Amino acid sequence: QGCKLVGCGSAVPNLMISNDDLAKVVETSDEWISVRTGIRNRRILSGKDRLTWLAVEAATKALQMAQVDPDDVDLVLMCTSTPEDLFGSAPQVQRALGCKRNPLAYDITAACSGFVLGLVSAACHIRGGGFQNVLVIGADSLSRYVDWTDRGTCILFGDAAGAVLVQACDGNEDGLFGFDLHSDGDGQKHLNAAIKDDKSDDETEKLGSNGSMVDFPPRRSSFSRIQMNGKEVFRFAVRCVPQSIMSALEKSGLSGSDIDWLLLHQANQRIIDAVATRLEIPPERVISNLANYGNTSAASIPLALDEAVRSGKIQSGHTIAAAGFGAGLTWGSAILRW
Ligand code: ACO
Repeated sequence: QGCKLVGCGSAVPNLMISNDDLAKVVETSDEWISVRTGIRNRRILSGKDRLTWLAVEAATKALQMAQVDPDDVDLVLMCTSTPEDLFGSAPQVQRALGCKRNPLAYDITAACSGFVLGLVSAACHIRGGGFQNVLVIGADSLSRYVDWTDRGTCILFGDAAGAVLVQACDGNEDGLFGFDLHSDGDGQKHLNAAIKDDKSDDETEKLGSNGSMVDFPPRRSSFSRIQMNGKEVFRFAVRCVPQSIMSALEKSGLSGSDIDWLLLHQANQRIIDAVATRLEIPPERVISNLANYGNTSAASIPLALDEAVRSGKIQSGHTIAAAGFGAGLTWGSAILRW
């Protein structure tokens, strides 16, 4: 059983924040940000805007491109680390898309690697589970977890959603080849938005048995703002991503010269350039749009894919090496044919 990508779509919020805008709230400059990261603008969800709406818009565009009815979708994978319901956002997206047959929908939490994990999961569900049409959506709103007084992190992130439709096909049309996935929980200290106990106003009393008395009811918890050691994350990405892509290529029976496009998670232009140099892929075969959107976490790969497909850069039959990396730490690569 083969599977192939048959549609893509993306959506970004209207509100654009430039580097000059950020320089009004933290001590920074357009020059510092653009030289160190390549980022110039980012889009931010504002007011009552919802990430699920962006996800639905991106998914709708992917279905339109694929000419597939929402009723024919049998699985929705929502790759996000910023769900709008602690229990998961995917069923809300499925409902808003109007998939009347109540297909399975669930979230995948793997930060900036989420979309690559979603693609690989889609392929496994199609090959092993008989699924026909799987929507893979990458959507994140890290702006809600950024410390807007920390100039080391707040300049990096933007909000967005991107989606692809992965469809079952004959084995000879297969468009998802080798992949390579990893995690290293030891690196969580370098990048996290970890749970913390909030001070509780509630009346608490001691409750327990077997000699262990604890505050009851338990304290409420929430997630802290994003903490990052930028230098360590940079080193990790430049070390691990080329190895991962090489491994995925080897499993696909391909080499670097077979790649038409290198499509990395859009975190920092210097990371993208360093990985391309290590893989000996020339700049004209590298996709980059982070100048306009910053790091949009799980959305960055499908957002850049969608722009490159709609502008005619990526064409039918092209081979793409896609790689995600980020918090967890997690990282992974997949070799695709568009
Ligand atoms: N404007 C001006 N100065 C700044 C800013 C800023 N926005 N941020 C930091 N600085 C200052 C620092 O205070 C420091 O000053 P000092 O030398 O006086 O102490 C100096 O600039 C250098 O700071 P560094 O943090 O060492 O700068 P670096 O060159 O490492 O660049 C950056 C920082 C851009 C964050 C870089 O490390 C990076 O991009 N790392 C990768 C991060 C990343 O991609 N994270 C996302 C992963 S994906 C995910 O899962 C969320």
